[in-house]
Amino acid sequence: MSGVDRRTFLKAGAVAGAVATTTTVSAASAAEVAFQHGVASGDPLPDGVLLWTRVVTSEPIRWEVARDEDFSRIVKRGTTRTGPARDHTVKVEVHGLRPNTRYWYRFRVGDVVSPVGRTKTAGCGTELNLGVVSCANWAMGHFAGYGFLAQQDLDAVLHLGDYIYEGVYAVTPELRPSEPPHECVTLDDYRRRHAQYKTDAHAQAVHQAHPFICTWDDHESADNSSSIGSPLHDPATEGPWAVRMAAATQAYFEWMPIREGKVDRSFQFGELASLTMLDLRSYRTDTTILGAEQRSWLIKRLTTDTARWQLVGNSVMISPFKIPPAPGFPSSNPDQWDGFPADRELVLRALGDRKNTVFLTGDIHSSWACDVPFEGRSVASEYIVTSLTSDNFDELLKVPPRTGSLVLEAQIQLLNPHAKFVELDSHGVATLKVTQDEVRFDWYYLANRKDPNSTITKAHSFRTRHNTAQVERVLF
Ligand SMILES: [Fe+2]
Repeated sequence: MSGVDRRTFLKAGAVAGAVATTTTVSAASAAEVAFQHGVASGDPLPDGVLLWTRVVTSEPIRWEVARDEDFSRIVKRGTTRTGPARDHTVKVEVHGLRPNTRYWYRFRVGDVVSPVGRTKTAGCGTELNLGVVSCANWAMGHFAGYGFLAQQDLDAVLHLGDYIYEGVYAVTPELRPSEPPHECVTLDDYRRRHAQYKTDAHAQAVHQAHPFICTWDDHESADNSSSIGSPLHDPATEGPWAVRMAAATQAYFEWMPIREGKVDRSFQFGELASLTMLDLRSYRTDTTILGAEQRSWLIKRLTTDTARWQLVGNSVMISPFKIPPAPGFPSSNPDQWDGFPADRELVLRALGDRKNTVFLTGDIHSSWACDVPFEGRSVASEYIVTSLTSDNFDELLKVPPRTGSLVLEAQIQLLNPHAKFVELDSHGVATLKVTQDEVRFDWYYLANRKDPNSTITKAHSFRTRHNTAQVERVLF
């Protein structure tokens, strides 16, 4: 969704924040130990995985990893501690595990045991199955899509950003009030917002079921953020941007099952696939979306890595997008790669004729399958997952789904012939299946984002066959 639209939402939201009701996410007192925010795992390696939970205690926290759900075959155990300096979050790096293997884990403080989580190490199987999700706005809907992914047989869940939203929203009245009831600015604000999201039952279920591999987009910090600021950040009233970005970053690394250090990082699934996760916010300036160091690293990986498929976790759309002329709308969205043509040209030129790169993208609250064009040919595929709950075009246009958007979709495809599929209305999740011969991307749509028990149905399926860089519809 364009920055203009989001800014409008947020300005309206700032007004509503003053009257929004408060939901308190209470922290357990030291006396009553509880695992209120569930358990999670992430960043799978062939020999290990990161485990996460949160528990308010000064006691040692024991953790166990087993080959079975009943913990009769425990293979790793240890103790750790936490405290207020890290908002009582817990991260454990487990190594010495077997590749491509399921494990179960739990934490324990005294006699209090956490829920049992299930995870999987990265591997070298004949296929790779990922859940794909982005743009989960607590205030705008329920996370039934997370609940659906929890039930699927997946190796991991790829989260492409906007895991939280820092703002408050009034254009659609908040279905679930935001905590804190105002835009997040301070470390305490971001921590409380993350804590609220991790009280959601569907979010807890999907974290409990699969390891996550996350990148962030702008709303983990502030709308359309970069290393130098956000159009919604006012240093005069909100202090230096660097302080706010540091607060958002600290809370993110405390609360997400991501390895410490940086968001741009890579994963290996045997010889089948490499996954490069991009950080398109931390190094962004007016002229570069990647920064020189990340750009060199990305190009080197895409051109020298020997895996059959190069997957890229990419928070904003890399395919060009000419926006149909409309009053008050710009002709393109400079928050996407369209705002950074020099970086895009360097990356796409480097791909040459390799034709095994697949960009997996979020951000724009709509579903797309694109041939990524460069100098008159397609050099990669791009699949864009729609928003889990964040408003999209029918809500923006205030029209029923699959009415007003149909005209816009036709105009978009006319102006952007490389976009082979675009759907602007639905919310949901996607799955990605990678085999030797093809990658397949399936969109699953929620019947009603405001229903915590919404049905979810497979709606569209596309694939890219190896060495073609052409997306094509799959009938099912
Ligand atoms: Fe979003």
